[in-house]
Amino acid sequence: MKRIGAVLNPLLWVVCLMGLSIAPVTADEGRLGDELYKPYVGQPGKDVIWVPTPDAMVDEMIQAAEVGPHDLVVDLGAGDGKIAIAAALRRGARAVGIEFDPAMAALAKRNAQRAGVSDRVTIVEGDLFKVDFSQATVVTMYLLPELNMRLKPILRAMRPGTRIVSHSFGMESWSPDRRIETANASGYLWIVPANFQGLWNLDLPAGRKAKLTLKQIHQQLSGSLELDGKTIPIEEGRVTGYGLTIQFGPGGGRPLSLRGQLMNRKISGELLEAGKSQLVDGSKAGN
Ligand SMILES: C[S@@+](CC[C@H](N)C(=O)[O-])C[C@H]1O[C@@H](n2cnc3c(N)ncnc32)[C@H](O)[C@@H]1O
Repeated sequence: MKRIGAVLNPLLWVVCLMGLSIAPVTADEGRLGDELYKPYVGQPGKDVIWVPTPDAMVDEMIQAAEVGPHDLVVDLGAGDGKIAIAAALRRGARAVGIEFDPAMAALAKRNAQRAGVSDRVTIVEGDLFKVDFSQATVVTMYLLPELNMRLKPILRAMRPGTRIVSHSFGMESWSPDRRIETANASGYLWIVPANFQGLWNLDLPAGRKAKLTLKQIHQQLSGSLELDGKTIPIEEGRVTGYGLTIQFGPGGGRPLSLRGQLMNRKISGELLEAGKSQLVDGSKAGN
């Protein structure tokens, strides 16, 4: 039997270099493989070795992504299928696990059958970089930093609102919406943001008009609002899926914030002006 320490593998190197630890396998997680195939932790894979995500982290990932029965969860590099199976078993989601290693993919299929969720879990034997997973509403992964970076443009182009959860590794300049933690492991959640960048004409009650200029980097918004002849800078602006929340800085003479949703290429929401709520409709006037 090969031991983890004996395998010179990038995931373990990254784990060591980043000071992260592979959480010890618990009694429950000790069910590695079955009578037909017994994989070992640290065994080589196409682009990354197999190390199963600990049960507590699987729970936390599913919880953070708010997985529900209407979701299609795709686990990139599915290993023994534990994340896909948990999503189906505990949250009633449909799930797909993409796994390159044929023996591991076959094990994942058998695990899904044993768990009684083979009607909702599909294991695709293939290369995660070659399978189209654009229909996913939740993507999970436990890969390597450079693999996350290769995936970043694909993930960034997914439908707004898609949740992406990564065990251990981030995506550099694409800051997560939140960090997730268990006693032994950590990870990140991103919610793919809609694109609000550009110039917006806002209609307020009683024929009042405003112009909103938005610059967007991932979930962060900057820019300004022209209202009643004043230009008021954005102090803090954030996109969460199709939603935006903006707190404006001083300049308007009163506390001002905007919250809205992108629907049919229009912003519909409310402007809070000194605590008073007014409905707002916005339409795009330029890029
Ligand atoms: C670190 S393990 C994670 C397994 C599982 N997602 C989990 O969190 O328990 C990574 C898995 O990705 C698989 N893998 C590596 N390169 C792959 C590729 N290009 N396409 C699909 N699977 C791949 C490995 O065989 C391994 O099972």
